[in-house]
Amino acid sequence: PSIPREILSLKDLEAKCLETMAPMVRDYLYDGAEEGHTIRENLEVWDRWLVIPRMMRDTSTVNITPLTQQFNQSWSIPLGIAPSAMQQLAHPSGEKATAAAAKSMNIPFGLSTFSNYTIEEVKDAGGDSVVGLQMYLLEGRRDLNIELVRRAEAAGYKAIVLTVDSPVPGNRPGLIKSNFVMPKHMRFRNFSEDFGGPLDQAQDTQSNQPSVAGNPEIATESSQETAVKSRGNQLIVDPSINWERDMKWLREVTSLEIWVKGILHPLDAEEAIACGASGIMVSNHGGRQLDTCVSALDVLPAIVKQVNGRVPVHIDGGIRRGGDIFKALALGADFVWIGRPVWWGLEVAGEEGVKWVIQTLKREFEVVMKLMGCRNVGEIRREMVVTKSGLLS
Ligand code: FNR
Repeated sequence: PSIPREILSLKDLEAKCLETMAPMVRDYLYDGAEEGHTIRENLEVWDRWLVIPRMMRDTSTVNITPLTQQFNQSWSIPLGIAPSAMQQLAHPSGEKATAAAAKSMNIPFGLSTFSNYTIEEVKDAGGDSVVGLQMYLLEGRRDLNIELVRRAEAAGYKAIVLTVDSPVPGNRPGLIKSNFVMPKHMRFRNFSEDFGGPLDQAQDTQSNQPSVAGNPEIATESSQETAVKSRGNQLIVDPSINWERDMKWLREVTSLEIWVKGILHPLDAEEAIACGASGIMVSNHGGRQLDTCVSALDVLPAIVKQVNGRVPVHIDGGIRRGGDIFKALALGADFVWIGRPVWWGLEVAGEEGVKWVIQTLKREFEVVMKLMGCRNVGEIRREMVVTKSGLLS
């Protein structure tokens, strides 16, 4: 399959995707905490910034590659694919298709631990583009965390992406209402113990509780009661995660880069660096964890100021247009990541669809750069963006 000609933007692709996407998958994809304020905020925040272009600067050719290497590699654009769980929901080839698209476009991909293909399979599909394994610390199961880290090391991943914004799953009444369950033929294949099974069981037992579904990225407490315990297997994210014990522990068990995902406060960026983080991902988890929390863009400048160049600062949440990438870089980000748009591509055309998403953002970003008078990303300046109420003085 390919992307129909009349689809011209990610927004068009989203609409196309929603024509076919199963309602249950749609609910999971769009799921946000509580009333969805942060989800909306993540989209609106980009429009609160306006750009001030410079003219007559010969932008006949522009170079949109990142200024510096990330994960010790050069990329075609400062854009990557953020970890999102269970991509088989959008396409049978799931994470393999996403990784292959990232490879062919030369951008990085972060794999969720809760993927439907294994760490090794996805690495095979995406090669050097598969840079990071995203991980949650699992309560009472550091053995599983170590196993994941060792597999990532052996497979040639560059980084562990530690997601720190989820000591517990967010309040997500929407998912409970839609009664999400992972389909029977899918598995969390990074685990040899059958953690995929409980979801089936939840269905088998006619449970109305959200199974690992309440937050399929991470098992919910209620799911443990209804499903996971029924097989004696438990998978709960450790609610006691803390800098002192856990980040230091992880720093000691591996020499891979450790990126901390889910930072929203400058002082947490400081904590992460103090514990040896190689990079910071400013993110509110796509608005899925804490409702009414700030958007990543709103806290980006303060975090960039605090970090002061010691480690790279990346950002995700609501990036849908080339101009959004420009604004993120103008406000100090080194790199941006996308989550949901990948699913739109997967749903409509699998690997080709994901490639199309990346190509479209590349094309848009290039045009924005030309119109802004920037010949390379080093020429993007803080003064080129103002808030809507801001004046050029
Ligand atoms: C996510 N995200 C996520 N993050 C993470 O650290 N581990 C995970 O397993 C998942 N799973 C996941 C599933 C789905 C369906 C979505 C939409 C998101 C969050 C993700 O990495 C990223 O922070 C956001 O998706 C970025 O926001 P946008 O681009 O989706 O607006």
